[in-house]
Amino acid sequence: MSDDKVSCNEAIDAALHLDGDPEKVRAYYDEWALNYDRDTDSVDYSGPAISARLLREHLPAGEIRLLDAGCGTGLAGVELQRLGYRRIDGFDLSDSMVERARSSGVYTELKAGIDMMQAARHYESDCYDAVLSVGVFTLGHVPPEALRVLLQLVRPGGLLLMSTRTHYYEQTGFQALVDELIAAQKMELVKLVRDAPYNNDGDAHYWLFRK
Ligand SMILES: C[S@@+](CC[C@H](N)C(=O)[O-])C[C@H]1O[C@@H](n2cnc3c(N)ncnc32)[C@H](O)[C@@H]1O
Repeated sequence: MSDDKVSCNEAIDAALHLDGDPEKVRAYYDEWALNYDRDTDSVDYSGPAISARLLREHLPAGEIRLLDAGCGTGLAGVELQRLGYRRIDGFDLSDSMVERARSSGVYTELKAGIDMMQAARHYESDCYDAVLSVGVFTLGHVPPEALRVLLQLVRPGGLLLMSTRTHYYEQTGFQALVDELIAAQKMELVKLVRDAPYNNDGDAHYWLFRK
């Protein structure tokens, strides 16, 4: 995706305008997969490392079943493995991103071509000790309702962790959905880290919920 004509920041900005259309998202990331790690590294993308550390503060490593939802090339999986997690599954819409994740060698099971909004058709309910989604709750990608889908996959008492880009948080009904799910006792907020580093273009909030 990035070449002489398209800067890394432009590649990342363009990803924010995919309208949440799964076909556009898939095509975009299939094309970006080859240069994704290099481009995100060049803008100091820290979402995966911050997310993995936050999870590790609240969940012992070992034979814990984790699902990396929208795993991309596997940056979060690598960080999670570094912190001692050994059973990490992942899925993504983009085949090419998943191929890169596969070559990282850190995932136990990977599925490509899965739209997060339909994930409950591909995974059992209540089966993961923790589900995390880094860099996906961002403009042009998934609506806040994807939170409800991922929550289904978490076992009772398990954890759900996600980043929300600050502009996503401000421009969507994410907070209203969080309030609704907490009021309905479907989950509780364990920790919210507001306005934390994400990349050199902006911050994100990091959310940790318990089902
Ligand atoms: C910014 S990348 C983040 C990838 C990885 N989690 C990371 O932190 O590097 C966003 C990823 O979300 C995936 N994605 C976007 N919308 C999706 C959807 N509806 N279902 C599944 N994956 C989706 C894209 O294919 C892409 O790999």
